[in-house]
Amino acid sequence: MLNAALRDYFPDEDYRFYLRVGQMPPADFFKPTAAHAQLIAERKQNLREHGERCLASVPGAEPLLCETLALAREWGTIPPDAEAGSEICRTLGESWEVDFLLLKPDERGEARLLGGCVCFPSSWALEEKVGHPLPFIHEAVPGLNAALQSPITTFLKRLRPGIAFTRWNWGLSRHAQLNQHPALNLAKLAPPLRLDDVWLRLEDQALVALLQSGGVLFGIRIWVVPLAQVKADAETARRLHRALRTMPDEVARYKNLLATRGELLRLLEP
Ligand code: HEM
Repeated sequence: MLNAALRDYFPDEDYRFYLRVGQMPPADFFKPTAAHAQLIAERKQNLREHGERCLASVPGAEPLLCETLALAREWGTIPPDAEAGSEICRTLGESWEVDFLLLKPDERGEARLLGGCVCFPSSWALEEKVGHPLPFIHEAVPGLNAALQSPITTFLKRLRPGIAFTRWNWGLSRHAQLNQHPALNLAKLAPPLRLDDVWLRLEDQALVALLQSGGVLFGIRIWVVPLAQVKADAETARRLHRALRTMPDEVARYKNLLATRGELLRLLEP
């Protein structure tokens, strides 16, 4: 189940980047859902076939991984018999339905990505991001650093333990599949388009402070919804239409929506 009603993922405003967050118990974000068996099977297959794309860690990640494993146990979100040994990252990645990243402030105070497991990326590559600070990671997103770099840094420093601070991103894709790693070279949205060719990709995200290691756990849960389902709710369709219509061209290009924006708008019209 989505963290919110579908229409709430699209504020009734012109497009802009949001930091806006909610809160929930961490156990609720990371706990298994009805799709557990299927998601875990897909994660394990990805990890078997492309472990080098899904798993990454750099020196310094170990204390964050240990603390995350301890929390996962405390929250009851991984099987009690999950033996981690020296492969904590893989164990968590095979036990949780969600992807996760671990960050810690560097000497300049910027959150640096130290590791994680990403089996279901939305067109980005963990191997290109690991070891880098968040502003570098967000460089690919036109205007994001200018708009939110400083609020994001402040927000991450102020996280309180025991609470998952939630936010979300959304995108549109030609594919329903969860794993959209760039190396798969999946076909992009291109004209002509029918309603059934388009999928909404929602990313529920949770940020949790790691008290002992001084790090941050960042969880990402992907939901895929047919555009036809969006259109079936007139209010949701109207809000997505507004976001698309008012999105700056450079952001639409980044989100692979520039060439199809006109068609997408037409598809969403009543
Ligand atoms: C906490 C506040 C944060 C905000 C407001 C934020 C916002 C965003 C936005 C708006 C995008 C563009 C997504 C799209 O519209 O398609 C994005 C992309 C991304 N963000 Fe964040 N983000 C946050 C935290 C993080 C954290 C903690 C990480 C952890 C590493 C992260 C990693 C990424 C990555 C990997 C991308 C994709 C970049 C690419 O396409 O190359 N973000 N973020």
